[in-house]
Amino acid sequence: MKIRIKEMKRSHINEVLKIEKDSFKNNAWDERFFLYILNDKSNFAYVFQDDDAIIGYIIAHVFRPWATILNIAVRKRSRRQGYAQILINFIKEKLKGEQCHEVFLEVRKSNVKAKNLYKKLGFQFLNTVIQYYENGEDALVMGKII
Ligand SMILES: CC(C)(COP(=O)(O)OP(=O)(O)OC[C@H]1O[C@@H](n2cnc3c(N)ncnc32)[C@H](O)[C@@H]1OP(=O)(O)O)[C@@H](O)C(=O)NCCC(=O)NCCS
Repeated sequence: MKIRIKEMKRSHINEVLKIEKDSFKNNAWDERFFLYILNDKSNFAYVFQDDDAIIGYIIAHVFRPWATILNIAVRKRSRRQGYAQILINFIKEKLKGEQCHEVFLEVRKSNVKAKNLYKKLGFQFLNTVIQYYENGEDALVMGKII
């Protein structure tokens, strides 16, 4: 099986949406929002594909000399196999190439999997944004020098 990371294109959106909905349920981004993201040249969006399907994706926004990870998801049946780590390490190199020296992200306080992922990759807790999400949940802001 050949696995590769490619720039996300409009043609990937249908497949990406399935993973997005399965991962984020009511808070999933919709097609229009993905199209809006892909139209902005400051966004860097990649899909991780095997021979016949998308395994996951990552999207970052560049505000030189910083960047923020806007989205990351891996399809359920491929989780816990290291793909998210590969995606983050991949985007980190891209962002360094864009003269970004620090990367930030927000994560729901309850999202243990994602918090563990970011901690494992060296992200540090920076701040809490009280009631950041629509359901009143707090966001943790994490960051890493790259
Ligand atoms: C979070 C997510 C992207 C992780 O993807 P993944 O490919 O399964 O992650 P990896 O296999 O690379 O795991 C890396 C580390 O993350 C943490 N992690 C991943 N899944 C975990 C789980 N189920 N429970 C606890 N920690 C977990 C662990 O530290 C893991 O390292 P380890 O396997 O050596 O213990 C995936 O669970 C997902 O798509 N979730 C839904 C979308 C989401 O929450 N995105 C983040 C929004 S901020």
